[in-house]
Amino acid sequence: MDSEIEFNRTDILARLNDSGSLSEKILAIHDAARICCEFIHRISVTIYDPKFDLLKTLVHSTDDGNPLAGYQARLADTPSLHRIFLSGKPRVVHDLAAFAGGERAHTRRIVEHGFRSSYTIPMYANEQLTGFIFFNSRLPNVMNEAALTQLDMMARLISLLVGMELNLVKTMHGALRTAASFSSYRDPETGAHLDRMSHFSRLIASEIARDRGLNDEFAEAILWAAPMHDIGKIAIPDHILLKPGKLTPDEFESMKTHTTKGREIIDTMLRNFNLGNASLAPVMANIAEYHHENVDGSGYPRGLKAEAIPIEARIIATADVFDALTSRRCYKPAWDNASAFAEIDALSKWKLDRRCVEILLDNRTAIAEIQARFRDEAELDCREEQSRPGSAGQHSATPEV
Ligand code: C2E
Ligand code: SIN
Ligand code: SIN
Ligand code: FE
Ligand code: FE
Repeated sequence: MDSEIEFNRTDILARLNDSGSLSEKILAIHDAARICCEFIHRISVTIYDPKFDLLKTLVHSTDDGNPLAGYQARLADTPSLHRIFLSGKPRVVHDLAAFAGGERAHTRRIVEHGFRSSYTIPMYANEQLTGFIFFNSRLPNVMNEAALTQLDMMARLISLLVGMELNLVKTMHGALRTAASFSSYRDPETGAHLDRMSHFSRLIASEIARDRGLNDEFAEAILWAAPMHDIGKIAIPDHILLKPGKLTPDEFESMKTHTTKGREIIDTMLRNFNLGNASLAPVMANIAEYHHENVDGSGYPRGLKAEAIPIEARIIATADVFDALTSRRCYKPAWDNASAFAEIDALSKWKLDRRCVEILLDNRTAIAEIQARFRDEAELDCREEQSRPGSAGQHSATPEV
């Protein structure tokens, strides 16, 4: 063998090639960061939602586990980050002790957890702020010029990875809107229903993430995948999808296929966009296929039971039923929240996941806030009622409680 050629070196960032989650990729980058800068004890990434001026932790890698997850704040209420946003420049804090009595509760938490210095870099895509990357050290005065140059490169890498994830979400949501605009699915329950049920789902997911010590990425993934759950309805004929009254057994059999058709549509879209390896791909497909499974095995399309139903589908089912109950549909009027809470409580005996229901029951204020934030704007557009007398709105027209 030629002594000048070496093939047994392993690229320390090889893990970035895998179809892993963002959390796994941040761990890989953190391992690489330790080689140049062993004093980097925490990397965290928050994403920014301009619609609500909201910053949320997305992923982090912390030497001692997960003490600081679940962070969420308005950018306008975060002067130090707002200044970074306005200047567009990163910021070095050589000794966070200066903030011990500090401006923000979250900064105090970081100081209390023993972090002494920080380097904060804003992330942009198309000249829009998409979030911030934080490098923290337990040592003060370590962020020297050489280290910062290396960290800048890692920040660029992180920002590209986050950008890829956000683009995937944008692409899939765009494809959903495009497909829906060619079908009647746009009428009954797009827009506000999807926003509300996605945020109910995120609320459930963040509590479940807390129960299980999962990264915040889990809740964001659920928020992003949730709007895709009923995409299969674009393949359901109008006379069934928009029927004002109760479905016949045959019509309901056809309606049930929106689950398996949903998975097929999502798989096709992911394949066509070459996104099939994304970590979000199976979450989206599982949600579409399994969101009508019941915990006792009586649901469709597969009759899966309890834990055999993917957790993402159990979360979506709970959020979807709650919002379906509290919204007007072509086949039923809207229920008030109290009746809907009583109903999902009852449904948790056989249909919905008990823990998911409990989380909604325990967060009534947060739910009302989500409902206030996403009110239906357009009137529901249903097919004209059939002339058959008494056929309309018989199905669960009043709360069964
Ligand atoms: P959807 O309107 O989004 O409703 C989603 C799920 O919410 C339903 O799944 C059901 O589990 C729950 N849900 C909705 N309304 C009620 C209600 O009044 N009482 C109770 N206990 N649960 C309710 P499901 O039943 O598998 O239906 C799937 C989809 O089939 C529905 O989505 C809707 O698009 C359609 N559908 C169901 N029943 C009827 C009907 O009687 N007439 C028409 N036109 N469509 C129906
Ligand atoms: C973090 O969780 O480290 C980011 C939040 C912040 O420092 O503002
Ligand atoms: C602050 O308390 O807002 C400044 C410190 C920081 O954001 O890390
Ligand atoms: Fe559905
Ligand atoms: Fe739905």
